[in-house]
Amino acid sequence: MTAYGITLFLHSWLRWAVVLTAVMTILPSVLGWMSGAHWDDKKTKWASWFVNTTSIQLVLGLLLYGVFSPVMQTAFANFGAAMKDGVLRFWAVEHMMMMIIAVGLAHIGAARVKKAASDVGKHRVAVIFFGLAILIIVASIPWPGAGADPRPLFRLALP
Ligand code: HEM
Repeated sequence: MTAYGITLFLHSWLRWAVVLTAVMTILPSVLGWMSGAHWDDKKTKWASWFVNTTSIQLVLGLLLYGVFSPVMQTAFANFGAAMKDGVLRFWAVEHMMMMIIAVGLAHIGAARVKKAASDVGKHRVAVIFFGLAILIIVASIPWPGAGADPRPLFRLALP
């Protein structure tokens, strides 16, 4: 059991909390936007769960990126060469950058929902910002059978 193993395990499973909280935030927001419903506390709570889980992913990701990941240690040993390797470039640049943008969008979205004056405005902002964030996240997750370095859907043991 290593710090790397524990961090990667948590980061791998927490993706499901990110996806679930995104669905629980965005679907009611789409319905609310279309029907002109009231923005209630339940939506505020799901939105803050989405922002919180993505923020924890950011912290775990930064730990993997800067401290624990052997993949990143290989990349940092020769960054120029890593940029020519699809797998190393995916972890060193693509996954990290896209996820940071997505976490930023989730935070900006939450702040703008709070500021929006009307219920329609709150639903619209939630759909646009959280929707864009989850699209970027889903596109940047290393799903099995896809991308440069496919990973399991459910990591069953510590690496
Ligand atoms: C919502 C945000 C994020 C999600 C959903 C996410 C998801 C994932 C998933 C599913 C994996 C594969 C785990 C496995 O092998 O089972 C992974 C690996 C990794 N993530 Fe993230 N991630 C996020 C944000 C970040 C950020 C912001 C960084 C960097 C600053 C980062 C750095 C890494 C690294 C370095 C690995 C691979 C470590 C290794 O294999 O040694 N992640 N991420």
